[in-house]
Amino acid sequence: MEGCAGAAATSLLRRLCSGARSFPAGYARSASIRFCSTGKTYEKINHATIDRIIRVDHAGEYGANRIYAGQMAVLGRTNVGPVIQKMWDQEKDHLKKFNELMVTFRVRPTILMPFWNVMGFVLGAGTALLGKEGAMACTVAIEESIAHHYNNQMRTLMEGDPEKYEELLQIIKKFRDEELEHHDTGLDHDAELAPAYAILKGAIQVGCRAAIYLSERI
Ligand SMILES: [Fe+2]
Ligand SMILES: [Fe+2]
Repeated sequence: MEGCAGAAATSLLRRLCSGARSFPAGYARSASIRFCSTGKTYEKINHATIDRIIRVDHAGEYGANRIYAGQMAVLGRTNVGPVIQKMWDQEKDHLKKFNELMVTFRVRPTILMPFWNVMGFVLGAGTALLGKEGAMACTVAIEESIAHHYNNQMRTLMEGDPEKYEELLQIIKKFRDEELEHHDTGLDHDAELAPAYAILKGAIQVGCRAAIYLSERI
């Protein structure tokens, strides 16, 4: 349900922002891109790279929202509820921004969104059932992987054209810093005391790398 609603909202936003009913195939890919927030126009961007970056980041932030939703379903009324809620609120902002960027750059979401919807919630709730340490271990594993992933993307954009991609770089840098704060919050709340912490963290990070690989491509 939420996946359908998200797709419908993205479609509506896309039409509202573009001011057009639809684009002939190929037209949008060759036209210049204008940031809604600043009015800055992008000429001759590397569409393949930007598509890949925005699609996977949108999927990741969506997945993060589902993980925190799962954690809150289990731990929302415990003393770590407000800590998790605060991180979730930041993830909501991250997702909102990538929804906007998908409209601006006319990037379609990954076809795996319904899958990440379920998997994210199951991962969040499942680790939370191990206790708050399990939930925090999940946060540490995910955020460490995402911060690494965002660093790689920043490197790619810097090698491309740092001036051209300055706005996107600033967004990714801000989110990277906030993901690192979540990582540290997890450690501060006893993530390392979770059962089989190293194995749990390693398994989640393998899954995270697979999710990134797939969401960049399909
Ligand atoms: Fe995030
Ligand atoms: Fe995060």
